Amino acid sequence: MPVPDAVKRRAEELRREIERHNYNYYVLDSPTISDARFDSLMRELESLERRYPELVSPDSPTMRVGGAPREGFVTVPHLAPMLSLGNAFDEEDLRDFDRRVRQGTGGAGVEYVAELKIDGLAVSLVYEDGLLARAATRGDGDSGEDITPNMRTVRAVPLKLREPVRLLEVRGEVYMPKDAFARLNQAREESGEPLFANPRNAAAGSLRQLDPAVTASRQLSIFVYAVGAVEGAEFKTHHSVLEYLKDQGFRVNPHYRLFNDIEGVTEYCREWQHTRFDLPYATDGVVVKVNDLGQQALLGATMKSPRWAIAYKYPPEQARTVIRDIILRVGRTGVLTPTAVLRPVRLAGTTVTKATLHNEDIIRERDIRIGDTVLVHKAGDVIPEVLEVIKEERKGSEQPFSMPAECPECRSEVVRPEGEAAVRCVNPRCPARFREGLIHFVSRNAMDIAGLGPAVIGQLVSAGLVKDAADLYGLKKEDLIPLERMGEKSARNLLEALEKSKQNPLNRVIYALGIRHVGERAAKLLADRFRDMESIMNAGFEDLVGVQEIGPRIAESVIEYFSGPANRDLVRRLAQKGLKMRVEEDGAREGPRPLEGKTVVLTGALKKYTRQEAQELVERLGGRVSSGVSRKTDLVVAGEDPGSKYEKALKLGVRVIGEEEFLGLAGEG
Ligand code: IVH
Repeated sequence: MPVPDAVKRRAEELRREIERHNYNYYVLDSPTISDARFDSLMRELESLERRYPELVSPDSPTMRVGGAPREGFVTVPHLAPMLSLGNAFDEEDLRDFDRRVRQGTGGAGVEYVAELKIDGLAVSLVYEDGLLARAATRGDGDSGEDITPNMRTVRAVPLKLREPVRLLEVRGEVYMPKDAFARLNQAREESGEPLFANPRNAAAGSLRQLDPAVTASRQLSIFVYAVGAVEGAEFKTHHSVLEYLKDQGFRVNPHYRLFNDIEGVTEYCREWQHTRFDLPYATDGVVVKVNDLGQQALLGATMKSPRWAIAYKYPPEQARTVIRDIILRVGRTGVLTPTAVLRPVRLAGTTVTKATLHNEDIIRERDIRIGDTVLVHKAGDVIPEVLEVIKEERKGSEQPFSMPAECPECRSEVVRPEGEAAVRCVNPRCPARFREGLIHFVSRNAMDIAGLGPAVIGQLVSAGLVKDAADLYGLKKEDLIPLERMGEKSARNLLEALEKSKQNPLNRVIYALGIRHVGERAAKLLADRFRDMESIMNAGFEDLVGVQEIGPRIAESVIEYFSGPANRDLVRRLAQKGLKMRVEEDGAREGPRPLEGKTVVLTGALKKYTRQEAQELVERLGGRVSSGVSRKTDLVVAGEDPGSKYEKALKLGVRVIGEEEFLGLAGEG
C-alpha cells in the first residue's frame, strides 16, 4: 500500500515533535509537555507505523526498544583507542601534572577544561552519515562489546545527529542516577537477588543484558565528554568539542569550566568536593584536560593514558559514629532487614541516622554490636552502610544483637530457610508485609502509579479503604480527599495515574504481584513464553523450568504463589478492573517471521549488508544471532570467504544458505 503524502508528512511531524520532547526531557531535564500528551503523540506515531510499515525507519523514536534478545555479545574494534587516565590524589599531584604539561608544550600558556568525573562506565557511540550505527563498551581500549540495541534504549542518546557528518565517534559515561540505583537495590534485596555494590556496577550490569528490554527498564542516562574518530568536522579546542556535542543534541554535563591556569582548576576541585553530593548522580572526582587540541597532540600519550589529561580523585567519604540501636524492617516478602540506628552524622552531603545491615550473617561476620563505634560510608553516594567496627573503642557494655523468634509487627513465628541469609515472617496476613507489597505494586518499574507514596498507602490501609491491590482501582475521589495532604488536584492526578496504569503490559502486572524471586527479568520471560496470566497460573513445574533462564527456585515460587486461593482471587479481581492479563500481539508492525525461534550464525562478508544490518534483519525476522556454530544452530548464512564456521556447519550438518537465499527469506531479494 503506497503511503499517502499527508501520512508521510504527519509521521515526520510527529517524529520531530517527539524527538524535541525527548530532548527536552532526557537531555535538558526540563520537559515542556505532560507525560500523557507525550504518550498520545507516541501512540499516534505507532499507529501510523503499524498501518504503513514502510514508514518505519531505524531512527524513529518508536524503534528504541525492539528486536529479540541476543545470544551473546560480539566484539567490535574502536575506530580510535579508548584510553584511561592517570590519577591525581591531591593538589600537589595536580601541580606536578601542570608542570609536566607546561614542559611538554614548550612553556606557552596552557588552558584547562575541568569536568566532573561521573561514576559510570565508558562507552563509545559511532554515527555514520548522522545515524547511530554502533555502540560499544570500552573493553580493553582497542575493542569492546557491541551493545547497540542496549544503548538505543537510553533516551538521552540521540538516534540521529542534528547536523549529519560522515563519521562521528562520541565517548561518554553511562550512569545510573542515584534514586534509580537505590530503588533497584531495594527491589533486589526484597526478591533475594544479589545487590550492586555501586551505581557503576549497576550501570554495567544493566548494559550487559542480552535482552535490551531489561536495559530499557533501568533508567540509565549518559553524559558525553569527548570524540574519537571524526570525518566532516574539525576542532581546535576541547571546549569547542563539548559545545559541538551539545549542538548535535548530546547530553553534556553542564558543570564543565575553562581555566587559564592550574590554580583555577584546584579551586574548582575544592568547590565540588562537597557540593557534588547535591547532584542526582554519583561523581568520584574531576577530570582535567588540556584545552588546546594542538597542545594535546604535542603531549601525546603513554601506552595507557594521555599526557594531556588527569583524573583528580576525591578521597572516599567515610565517617565515624555510634550504633544506638538495631531495629527490624519487615519487607513485602516477609524478610526482616536489620537496620542500625546511628548517632546522626554528616556523610556525603546528608545527615545519616540509619544504615542497613542487610542480614544477621553480616552482623555476625563484622561482629557489630549495639553501642559500637563504627565506620560508615555510602554505597554509590546514597545507601549508608556500616563498613567496620572500631574495636579499640569498645568499653565492654556493647550488646550483641540476635534475631527475634517472632515478627516485630504481627508477632507470628519467623523462619530462616536452609541456605538463605534472610529471616522471614511467613504470615501472609502480616500488616507490614501487606503494606510493603502495595508499595511494590505501585512502584515505578511495576505499575508505576505516581502519587501513591508510602505515606498515602499507610493511610489507605489504616482507614480500611484498601484490603488488596485490586481495591486501589475502586478508589473514588471522595475516598481520597479526606486523607492528609491530599487536595482536589492530587486526588485527580492519582485517579488518572491509576487509570493509566491499566495499560501496563502483562510482564509489569506479573512483576507487580511481588512473587518471590520473580524480578523484572523473570516476569518478562514468563509473559513472553506463556502469553497470558491464566497459563502462568496453571503452569506446572516442568512447564516453568522449560523456559530458558527460569530455574527451579523461581518455578517453585511461582507455583507456591498461585497455589493459594487468595492470590488467584486477587488476579481475578485485577482482571475485572481492566488490567492486562495477556500479551497484546502487535503483529501489524512486523512482517512475516520465517526465522521465529531460530538460531542463526553469520559468516563471511555479505554484499548488501553490514554485519550489524544483517543481525538486525535476522532479529526482525524473529531469529537470534549467535557467534559460534554448534548442534543448536538452525541456520548459517554464508557470505564471501566464509571461514571455519562454515566448515563446522557442514561437518555438523547444519543448514547453510547464501546471501541470495537470505535476501529471499527477508523478502528483499
Ligand atoms: S575523559 C582520554 N571525562 O573516567 C580521556 N572521562 O579514569 C578519556 N570518566 O575511562 C576519558 N567522567 O570512564 C573523561 N568527564 C569525563 C569523565 C570520564 C568519567 C571516566 C571514563 C574514563 C575514566 C578515567
